[in-house]
Amino acid sequence: MLLYSAPLQGITTWVYRTVHSRLFGGADRYFTPFFSPTKEHLFTPRELRELQPEHNAGLPVVPQIMARNPADFLWAAEALAAMGYEEVNLNLGCPSGTVSAKGKGAGFLARPEELERFFETVFSAAPPVRISVKTRLGIRDPEEFPRLLELYESYDVSELIIHPRLQRDGYGDPVRPEAFAAAYRCCRLPLCYNGDLARPEDFTALEARFPTLPAAMAGRGLAADPALFRKLRGGGAAGRRELQTYTQTLYRAYCESYGSAGPAAQRMKEQWAYLIRRFAGGERYAGKMRRIDRPGDYETLEARIFGELPLAEEAGAPENRTGAGTQG
Ligand SMILES: Cc1cc2nc3c(=O)[nH]c(=O)nc-3n(C[C@H](O)[C@H](O)[C@H](O)COP(=O)(O)O)c2cc1C
Repeated sequence: MLLYSAPLQGITTWVYRTVHSRLFGGADRYFTPFFSPTKEHLFTPRELRELQPEHNAGLPVVPQIMARNPADFLWAAEALAAMGYEEVNLNLGCPSGTVSAKGKGAGFLARPEELERFFETVFSAAPPVRISVKTRLGIRDPEEFPRLLELYESYDVSELIIHPRLQRDGYGDPVRPEAFAAAYRCCRLPLCYNGDLARPEDFTALEARFPTLPAAMAGRGLAADPALFRKLRGGGAAGRRELQTYTQTLYRAYCESYGSAGPAAQRMKEQWAYLIRRFAGGERYAGKMRRIDRPGDYETLEARIFGELPLAEEAGAPENRTGAGTQG
């Protein structure tokens, strides 16, 4: 089963991908956080930093696009093909109210006729890249999914990543594995499962239930345990020293990329929202980490966490699961 790194806005940046792949062996694919092309058809400097080929050299990166207008999507797909990318991913999963109100992300799922016209225009333009889709089940009711599935199957979608929650489920309500199982039984597209895979046992159970599933994707679980995929490939868990090397390398790489420590510390805080779960008693520091705003305070708190807290497994506690309702 291929192991994919899920897009997490603010966390799985090009800096993260570079450091994570170097220290932990990497993912079979890294999906970038979405970017939303505007009608001017220009990349912002921030988008370019994320996507420019030199920043992703040698890595299996799939840029993710969020769009409702087929012309904007096609412009982005062509520009990314010209940079050397072979696949782009369409975001049909973002549940945020502001995104959905614009009919994008999961919000597009409420408009199946328009979505069909979007696919018709995009695929009939013979785009120069493969197009994969990351989708939720629908907006309010899992019964919306069979129609969407039929729509995806009518086009040359290269891979369908299913996050089996509805838009109204956010990230905290339980996933709906039965809806995924129904798609697994009948869908002819290559499928990938995404949602709450946080421990090696979660992947083993997934593979036992869906033995021919080609791929699985983890987001928060991988952010909390950067060695997750290495463990699944038979390698070792990350000890404290290795985790500290990871956080310090990542922080330094962010400082270098931004040319200053302030924004680097902000990025690291978002990373720590998940990493803190690896530490027994980490909840005592989670709020402090969220409130930090100066790089010096970040560095002090990071040193305290590593100095004072045992890893959850050293303390005999089970590793934290992805957990409900604690994410953005
Ligand atoms: C902070 C955060 C940012 C996210 N950003 C994106 C994104 O840019 N594109 C996307 O398709 N999904 C995004 N997601 C959803 C994840 O990719 C993933 O589908 C979701 O977290 C469920 O998987 P997990 O339980 O393995 O984390 C985001 C989720 C979180 C919590």
